[in-house]
Amino acid sequence: MEKRKVIFDCDTGTDDAVALIAALKSDNLDVIGITSVRGNIEVDKVVENNLRILDLLGMDVPVYRGCHRAMARTLIPGREKNTRMQTVSKEVDGKVLRIHDDELPLPQAMGKVRKEHACSFIVDTLLGSDEKIDIIAVGPLTNLGVAFTMDMRITDHIGTIYIMGGALATGNRTPVAEANFYDDPEAAEIVLTSGCNVIVNGIEPNLEGATYDVGELAELRKIGTKEACFVSDMLIGWINKCKILFDTDSESCCIHDYAAVSQAIDPLTVTEMKPEICHVDISGGMSDGMLVVDRRIPQPVDSSIQVVYHMDTERTHALLRELLAK
Ligand code: RIB
Ligand code: CA
Repeated sequence: MEKRKVIFDCDTGTDDAVALIAALKSDNLDVIGITSVRGNIEVDKVVENNLRILDLLGMDVPVYRGCHRAMARTLIPGREKNTRMQTVSKEVDGKVLRIHDDELPLPQAMGKVRKEHACSFIVDTLLGSDEKIDIIAVGPLTNLGVAFTMDMRITDHIGTIYIMGGALATGNRTPVAEANFYDDPEAAEIVLTSGCNVIVNGIEPNLEGATYDVGELAELRKIGTKEACFVSDMLIGWINKCKILFDTDSESCCIHDYAAVSQAIDPLTVTEMKPEICHVDISGGMSDGMLVVDRRIPQPVDSSIQVVYHMDTERTHALLRELLAK
């Protein structure tokens, strides 16, 4: 099967790192560029982490620095009110714990970021391509929102946009909003109303497809490759950190971003998805950033947006084992 060209947009981040490794190691995808966006951490730290992943794999893929803040969110004073925000950091024994560390547990990167801005890379690459290019976006959608704002003609050059974002009912960053959509609701709305083919992989199907406990991660480590050991050690460390951060005894974590990538590699990891009319709440209130699906409309719905409802756990887990063993 010929490799499909993809642009990988991320805010690396712990689960982004697993997703990027999976995409880079897949025989089905040709990652032609990695675009970094502020989300989990500042954009320069995202760039560094992406470069560290490439060093780990011994691969040379262009890495670009993208947007350092959301399109509009930060321009509205006091927007983050009344939203019962998730705890994203906590000071413990004088040390600030965050959901995602600034640095992946890997040596400082040897590679260098490209000079071109990520959004220019996205627009120029898409407009210059005779074949449609897929996009995998697993962070806030700021880079894509800006790219569409720069030049809507890219729409004709995009195959499918696979996004990790949104929640069917229960959010993580707020009671109803998922982190990526919450961090840049306007960008998410632009992408969901672009007319492109978009597959929305939200929290609930991710939990079904890509939740791992400490035992499974220990089994992954037995694969023995450097990638398997890195992923296992990093995620077990993540679980232990989140126990303190969220004051929980949970022994598992969800690799949200890998779930979105898995379907770009193997569509059969998804067992149910439907075309839906989708929007994102950009009103700045209690449901700011919420994925709003209009289910009042009788199926089938005329929409280019597919919402994932269920994933095949075993197939999704088997795929990661296969990719980490390569
Ligand atoms: O809600 C999960 C998403 O937010 C993931 O992409 C994770 O990396 C964070 O960006
Ligand atoms: Ca992410």
